[in-house]
Amino acid sequence: MSDVPGPLIASGRSADIYDIGGGRVVRRRRNGPVSDDEVLAMRAASVAGIPVPHVFAVDGADMVMQHLDGRSMLDELGRRPWRAAHLGRQLADLHLALRAVPAPDGLRGSGTTLVHGDLHPGNVLMSADGPVIIDWGGASAGAPDEDAAEMWLLAEVAEVDDLSPLMRPVVGIVRRRMLAAFIERVGRPSPTTLARVCDDRLGDPNTRPGERDRIRRLRP
Ligand SMILES: Nc1ncnc2c1ncn2[C@@H]1O[C@H](COP(=O)(O)OP(=O)(O)O)[C@@H](O)[C@H]1O
Ligand SMILES: [Mg+2]
Repeated sequence: MSDVPGPLIASGRSADIYDIGGGRVVRRRRNGPVSDDEVLAMRAASVAGIPVPHVFAVDGADMVMQHLDGRSMLDELGRRPWRAAHLGRQLADLHLALRAVPAPDGLRGSGTTLVHGDLHPGNVLMSADGPVIIDWGGASAGAPDEDAAEMWLLAEVAEVDDLSPLMRPVVGIVRRRMLAAFIERVGRPSPTTLARVCDDRLGDPNTRPGERDRIRRLRP
């Protein structure tokens, strides 16, 4: 499939999503094929009762999956900021459910737990049937609190430079309220996991200079 398969409905950091009708979308990765790990992780999550989109087929960089209606949890946070604490608890519940799932055989990584790798509010879609976790390209076998540590770090250091300077403190307050509710429910990550996650972010070329400084200050 090299032609555009249908109307573009969303573009994320790593993929474009096209509506192909019949309740299905194609998620087309811009850099390389869908990995076996991504498919393996989604299957393991689904079998364990974690809400993920149903996958119909995989072909090179394309994943054909169930079309989910509903905005992301991040958009919901922007539109209804007074729900920040509630959303934080919902996100915490997803983390807690996921940390009980053993990593499937053959998944990359050296831990025992299924780790999503990028479980932030932008990767949760609020469907009519409840929140659904998308974007499994970074999944691995890791430590149970790895996703929580990532989320904690992201909320602490991510820059909100897509907004006017006037809005930034407001977004900061809403994010902190969500994070507080999240941490209250899942607990703080262990220093070992936090240090590992900090090092991963520092090794990521997409991490910005300002974020790097803050990560270095937070690293245990
Ligand atoms: N199954 C789906 N149904 C409907 N929209 C989706 C689906 N999967 C992804 N999207 C939309 O595409 C966006 C980006 O998808 P995502 O898998 O997170 O890719 P990226 O790695 O580029 O962030 C999501 O925020 C969402 O708006
Ligand atoms: Mg995403």
